[in-house]
Amino acid sequence: MKLNVILIGFMGSGKSTIGKKLADELGMEFVDMDELIQSTLNMSIKQIFQEQGEHAFREHERLLSKELRKKSNLVIATGGGVILEPQNMEFLSENGMIIYLKSDFKTIIDRIEHSASRPLYEMDNTENFRNLFRFREPLYQKYADYVIQVSNNHISSIVKKIKQKIKKNAK
Ligand code: S3P
Repeated sequence: MKLNVILIGFMGSGKSTIGKKLADELGMEFVDMDELIQSTLNMSIKQIFQEQGEHAFREHERLLSKELRKKSNLVIATGGGVILEPQNMEFLSENGMIIYLKSDFKTIIDRIEHSASRPLYEMDNTENFRNLFRFREPLYQKYADYVIQVSNNHISSIVKKIKQKIKKNAK
């Protein structure tokens, strides 16, 4: 069995919430890449985007992906843009099973509408944001070992489904 579980998906798909519960139930360590980048730099994501730019943020993401491949027994919640850099996915999948938390656009918007911590959403209008969603969807799909539908599903049933996939993968 591969040693880490990597959750990918668009902003607001529930990677952190689901990841925490999954890690808890499996007795694994939970790592949130955004949180780790923020605490390492002692800056919020918003600040990083404003002061260093998106390009610099992507580089922080890349270095962290490289670092995480050396570790094991982790459930990793990635940032929604992790799939933009193919190298990230190479690093992460080296030692991990990739699970795509697939959500429809409406569910995403409902979840993140009042979020103050997502610069890409704040900077854009809904139409551009929808285009971003459409552009990224095939990338999440491409890198996924498994796809789990999260819209209209309760967190406990999502976690249960992921655990079944992990079990299947271990055989
Ligand atoms: C981003 C998603 C965010 C965060 C950053 C960029 C993206 O993470 O990494 O704001 O490009 O989709 P979440 O997916 O946890 O919101």
